[in-house]
Amino acid sequence: MPEPLLEIRGLTRSYRPRRSLLVRSPEVVALDDVSLSVGQGESLGLVGESGSGKTALTRAILRLEAPDAGQILYRGQDVARFGPRALRAFRARVQIVFQNPQAALNPRMTAEQIVTEPMLVHREIVGLERRGRRERAAELMAMVGLRTGHLRRFPHEFSGGQQQRIGIARALAAGPEMLLLDEPTSALDVSVQAQVLNLLIDLQDRLGLTYLFISHDLGVVRYLCDRVALIRHGRLIETGPAAQIFDAPQSAYARMLIAAAPELRQPG
Ligand SMILES: Nc1ncnc2c1ncn2[C@@H]1O[C@H](COP(=O)(O)OP(=O)(O)OP(=O)(O)O)[C@@H](O)[C@H]1O
Ligand SMILES: [Mg+2]
Repeated sequence: MPEPLLEIRGLTRSYRPRRSLLVRSPEVVALDDVSLSVGQGESLGLVGESGSGKTALTRAILRLEAPDAGQILYRGQDVARFGPRALRAFRARVQIVFQNPQAALNPRMTAEQIVTEPMLVHREIVGLERRGRRERAAELMAMVGLRTGHLRRFPHEFSGGQQQRIGIARALAAGPEMLLLDEPTSALDVSVQAQVLNLLIDLQDRLGLTYLFISHDLGVVRYLCDRVALIRHGRLIETGPAAQIFDAPQSAYARMLIAAAPELRQPG
């Protein structure tokens, strides 16, 4: 097996809820000894109930929060040891797409500014001058199925599906290798979810991207992912090829999730 692109080893992170004078609430263990690897070009689905630690994992991967224990290796290198320059390069390579595009896009910026921003932040890697950035912005719009004319618009002038396309264009702007997709379609109207999912599949094929795909929707995960990891209360319960998880689940938790998913029932 080739070396994984991303490898997570024994990751543990707890949060101490804000203490009040009278009540001392217990610590929440958001991630409990999580180990996972994601191969280059693979789609790994991460599935779990609300509060199971999925977003906490993305924050730890991007080093937005330091873990209490454990390691994150990217191409075999320990992310915790990256200096400022290596960390910037890492963050250009691993980008995130959020659940709610409306909240994730700055309402005061045009689509062009939004999509161009990562090229400026990662100027030393992207290396484009003003004109090159404009061309790249237009290219990105085409890649996500929008038009160059859309670059002048503000987020509120787009539909939810279009806003998420801009979120995806921004995530692609610095030329990443991997996307962390944190419920990228669950805030969207059902009618456009499939279009955005198909766009993600198409982009993965064209650009050879690696995905960590977080979702509540097992139907979507089955459609999109090569492997699946099930998480509950911060612990991985079961990890395996999608076909195995869905057709021969090993854990009671997997069987429970599958039984509770109407989208997996065979029609007829
Ligand atoms: N900054 C924080 N302070 C305190 N507790 C936190 C913080 N961030 C997360 N938690 C707790 O950690 C646990 C995991 O949260 P997380 O956001 O990762 O869940 P999730 O799986 O992404 O859920 P959802 O599907 O609702 O997005 C939850 O119990 C949450 O309340
Ligand atoms: Mg979350």
